[in-house]
Amino acid sequence: MIPQEFIEEVLARTDIVEIIEGRVVLKKSGQNYSGLCPFHDEKTPSFSVSQDKQFYYCFGCQASGSALKFLLEFDRMDFISAVEYLAQKAGLEVPRDRQSDDGESRKRKSLYEILDQSSAYYREGLRSHESRVRAVDYLKDRGVSGEIARDYGIGYAPPGWDNLMQKLAVSNNDRQLLIDAGMLTDHPEEQKTYDRFRDRIMFPIRDLRGRTIAFGGRVLDADAKPKYLNSPETSVFHKGRELYGLYEARKRVQKLDRLIVVEGYMDVVALAQNGVGYCVATLGTATSTDHIERMFRIVPTVFFCFDGDEAGRNAAWKALKSTIPAMEDGRSAKFLFLPDGEDPDTFIRKEGREAFETAIGSALGFTDFFFQTLEEGLDMNSAEGRAALSKLAVPLMAELPEGVFKQLIIDELSKRTGLASDRLVTASGLDQHRGGDIRHPNVARANHQRRLKLSKLAEHALLVLLRQPDVAKLLDDEDLVKLEGEPDWQVLVELVRWVQQAGEVSTMLLLSHYQDSTYFDYLRQLAEQDPMLSPDQLADEFLETLRKMLVEGDAQQKQRVIDELTAKPLSALTPVEREMLQNYGKSKP
Ligand code: UTP
Ligand code: MN
Repeated sequence: MIPQEFIEEVLARTDIVEIIEGRVVLKKSGQNYSGLCPFHDEKTPSFSVSQDKQFYYCFGCQASGSALKFLLEFDRMDFISAVEYLAQKAGLEVPRDRQSDDGESRKRKSLYEILDQSSAYYREGLRSHESRVRAVDYLKDRGVSGEIARDYGIGYAPPGWDNLMQKLAVSNNDRQLLIDAGMLTDHPEEQKTYDRFRDRIMFPIRDLRGRTIAFGGRVLDADAKPKYLNSPETSVFHKGRELYGLYEARKRVQKLDRLIVVEGYMDVVALAQNGVGYCVATLGTATSTDHIERMFRIVPTVFFCFDGDEAGRNAAWKALKSTIPAMEDGRSAKFLFLPDGEDPDTFIRKEGREAFETAIGSALGFTDFFFQTLEEGLDMNSAEGRAALSKLAVPLMAELPEGVFKQLIIDELSKRTGLASDRLVTASGLDQHRGGDIRHPNVARANHQRRLKLSKLAEHALLVLLRQPDVAKLLDDEDLVKLEGEPDWQVLVELVRWVQQAGEVSTMLLLSHYQDSTYFDYLRQLAEQDPMLSPDQLADEFLETLRKMLVEGDAQQKQRVIDELTAKPLSALTPVEREMLQNYGKSKP
């Protein structure tokens, strides 16, 4: 952490023109300087630098910001290096916040850099290494186009023990970073270090912001082992939380409203290749409640896709159990079983997109799969069978979050067993107060959130934004335009836009920018509240909260229209308006 006042001091002593001039040819034109924009390809200058405002702006691509932002974007410096660079030019020494573990966050930054460089190296390997032909042929053989390979950043780690090391371990520090990032395996006893990934097709695993955090590598030969090799756990990669393809799905699909969980890297890639871009895969682990919470924070519907064989059924049941604590109202989980012997990759390549989406459309709902599985082998015509079902179902149902969905499942059990719902509830601990402590910690929070009203949701989003301003970068203009529709959300939209153009922003910097505004006190109070989430959960939380806001916003909008129409006499309505009212089931007599 660098103190905010210091950053402002540095910027006050920096001349943006001097910084940019060294990198872009600028010409004085009127008050400002102008030149060819370094952020997009152009023939006539639309890039302008203002000395008064200490700000650059491109009329062509809307890139804009301070000198600091320019260094981050153009030189691709990390934040701390950029501040250090400017400080040094200004003759200032960077003070350090004593309590913060700067070493750790620096290392994390550099891990991201070295992983990014590794990814670039592998991509280059697929383009130009002398032994790339096998890899290219392999991918072609599996139907992967150049475009999909590009979108998913697929690469090739050439054969040999130390290609990556030779290329990237320039200093001892880099070598250590490569080890810490899981890219090299280190055997100190034998004094040997070598590339972890050799002669493999490389799939980068990226976080929501698109930073590479790990890799999966597939062998080319049918019988080499292991077939897939994954990066080990590192300080930036936690297998049990990450989903392959999530970043790409968000980029590919405009209005992402569902995700399909499949088993393998190649399944995700093949589905995307065939037009189903909303797929993710776990990384060789079972789907955890953590995974599921992550997805539900981004979309309301999650499909799980499994083989139709026994192993597939077992895996699906495990997945269902992991979804139980996450089944808040408004979320839906569905289970799809492919024909025996098929995986999504082979299925979609054989049958095509439409057949796959038809299959998705007929996926089993949570409730059906739940009861179907539990009733297997039970004679539901006998009292014993019905008692057994209740015995199996109740402990699982107790883990469902409180809400309408839970009530519906209780009613369903009651229908199937013939026991009255209220008896089931009291006899079995399905009442509201029991079971709270066995539920997943996320659920307690989620329940709390459900009680929030619309403005509370917006407040929650603000709170997350204040805590970690860079979540603003997860939104694009289209998202913002939607949010702007509601007057109450203006503050949020404004803050998001400001963060987006300001570049790296700390909570302090954000607050100090708003210190003269009328809602400063409100923002400051919010910033003092603890969202009770770890830093890596904040991004998901932000997206989930906005999604809920939009859903509620739509409902309110609709209600306003209906109220307006119902207030009018029937004769004043146009035929279209009448039809609208009828569609909403609120038709006038
Ligand atoms: P599968 O063995 O089902 O392979 O592994 P697949 O995805 O169908 O692979 P292809 O089609 O032969 O390329 C599914 C997932 O399990 C993990 C990987 O994440 C893989 O995508 N896995 C598999 C490993 O981690 N290691 C292995 O050796 C095999
Ligand atoms: Mn496969």
